[in-house]
Amino acid sequence: MEVRPARDAAELAQALKLRDRIFCAEQGVSAGAERDGRDGEALHLVAVDEGQVLGTCRLLFGDHAAFLGRLAVDAAHRRRGIGAALLREATEHALAVGARRISLHAQLDVCELYAGVGYVELGEPFVEEGIDHVAMEKALA
Ligand SMILES: CC(C)(COP(=O)(O)OP(=O)(O)OC[C@H]1O[C@@H](n2cnc3c(N)ncnc32)[C@H](O)[C@@H]1OP(=O)(O)O)[C@@H](O)C(=O)NCCC(=O)NCCS
Repeated sequence: MEVRPARDAAELAQALKLRDRIFCAEQGVSAGAERDGRDGEALHLVAVDEGQVLGTCRLLFGDHAAFLGRLAVDAAHRRRGIGAALLREATEHALAVGARRISLHAQLDVCELYAGVGYVELGEPFVEEGIDHVAMEKALA
C-alpha cells in the first residue's frame, strides 16, 4: 500500500469516483456539494494498493494554514489504518509548504479518528449537508 499524492489523471479520477460512491451514494451528500469546484486547486492524496485507489483526501492551502477534506476509505477496507495513514501523509505535506495548522470539519461519528492523530475540537457541533460535524484543528508549529 502506498500513501502519496495522486500521480496522474487516472488516479485522480479513481479518487473522485470513490468520493462519489462514499459521500453521495453512501451518505446522501448532493453531487453539487461534493464537487464544490475546489478540486482543481487541491493536493489530492491517495492510498493505492495494486493500482486501486482505496482511500483519498484533499488539502487546500491558505495563508499559513491547510484545510483537509473529503477523507474517504473504501467500505471494504476500513479499520485497517488507511484513514490514519492519509492523515499522517497530509501532515507531512502541510508542514512542507509551511502551514502552521491543519483545520477540518469532522463528522461527529468519526472525530476519534482525528483526535487519535492530534486534532482537537473547536467550538460547538453544527450540521453540514445534513450530517453532524465539529470543527477540529491540529497545530503544526
Ligand atoms: C472515516 C473513515 C475515513 C475512516 O477510515 P479508516 O481507514 O477506517 O480509519 P482507520 O482504520 O485509520 O481508523 C483509525 C482509528 O480511527 C477511529 N475510527 C475510524 N473509523 C471510526 C468509526 N467509524 N467510528 C469510530 N471511530 C473510528 C478508531 O479509533 C480507529 O482505530 P481502531 O480501528 O484501532 O479502533 C472511513 O470510515 C470512511 O471513509 N467513512 C465514510 C466517509 C467519512 O465519514 N469520512 C470522514 C468525513 S469527516
